[in-house]
Amino acid sequence: MATLNLSNATKSYGDVDVIKGIDLDIADGEFVVFVGPSGCGKSTLLRMIAGLEDITAGELKIDGERCNERAPKDRGIAMVFQSYALYPHKSVYENMAFGLRLAKRPKDEIDAKIREAAGILQMEHLLERRPSQLSGGQRQRVAIGRAIVRNPKVFLFDEPLSNLDAALRVSMRREIARLHGELDATMIYVTHDQVEAMTLADRIVVLDGGVVQQVGRPMELYNRPQNVFVAGFIGSPKMNFFQGEITGTQADSITVTTPATAAVAVPVTSNATPETGRAVTMGIRPEHLSVADDGTAPGFTGTIVLVERLGDESLLEIALSDGTEVIAKVAGGGSEAAGDTIRLTFDPAHLHLFDADGERIG
Ligand SMILES: Nc1ncnc2c1ncn2[C@@H]1O[C@H](COP(=O)(O)OP(=O)(O)OP(=O)(O)O)[C@@H](O)[C@H]1O
Ligand SMILES: [Mg+2]
Repeated sequence: MATLNLSNATKSYGDVDVIKGIDLDIADGEFVVFVGPSGCGKSTLLRMIAGLEDITAGELKIDGERCNERAPKDRGIAMVFQSYALYPHKSVYENMAFGLRLAKRPKDEIDAKIREAAGILQMEHLLERRPSQLSGGQRQRVAIGRAIVRNPKVFLFDEPLSNLDAALRVSMRREIARLHGELDATMIYVTHDQVEAMTLADRIVVLDGGVVQQVGRPMELYNRPQNVFVAGFIGSPKMNFFQGEITGTQADSITVTTPATAAVAVPVTSNATPETGRAVTMGIRPEHLSVADDGTAPGFTGTIVLVERLGDESLLEIALSDGTEVIAKVAGGGSEAAGDTIRLTFDPAHLHLFDADGERIG
């Protein structure tokens, strides 16, 4: 178990900056997830921690000690890759034993560790098989087992579940959560799947373009995204955005008018004092739109373009007269149909406001 600190961590390939000065403190035993779109630098940052990439500038500390120059094998980390990276000709047992044999650990100790890891991962019955005789999920478990037997201070996972089908991803996700509970180890997990991020993380680090956009607990990011990027990235389907302008300010609310909606008083909690006339982006999540209309709730009217029925709920794609497209997530079983005119309402408490630079207001 270990703490991990990055200060101004930077990675450049020639004159291309890929990681642009990241500061991050990870507590002992914490489960931290790096999320962000493809190419944002998640794997690069993980590989810098692992020692598989040089750190161009800045510092990496593990358990308080500078590790920039330390060889990967001496950092006390174990990494699990998307591509399992198992030896095809070795049995599961030998795959797990390999690193320990290289480290010249005693035979009894190796055996005990493998049996313990196999027990944790419920794969005692698979130890004599070759990787080709295993399912994708079982192979991934071997890769995780190989990390466990090394008893690392920090586990690093790079999209470990991406190659698995949907059902297996869900069950492996639960196994990894259970594993974290059982081992109490520090874990850093890279994914572009925000459901994995939300469900696994103690804290999520949202990256874009090699820059940290926000760090926080999953529900913090969902409830109070600090900028438009995080607002659009966390949540599925993504948040709807309306362009508008500030038409009034009150002590605890800001009045916003958009082409789609009449003037709406958006409650704000902080002491934001933006000026009237400023352009703003107003956001609302699909699940916070409602077809119920008591005649007083604010809302807007549009035409249903597409209905996707998911069973328990339906996704409605709605075109507004100004061209804005909106997605609403509503209860399943309704009679909505493409071509219908529909009015959607919302509670202003669910609105998010962002300034012209995309930063949260309030
Ligand atoms: N050797 C290299 N030389 C130059 N640029 C590189 C090199 N390796 C990676 N990059 C660039 O660094 C950026 C970050 O890559 P990285 O693999 O970390 O992204 P990622 O967030 O893991 O993406 P994905 O979700 O697709 O795995 C990308 O724009 C990539 O093109
Ligand atoms: Mg990657």
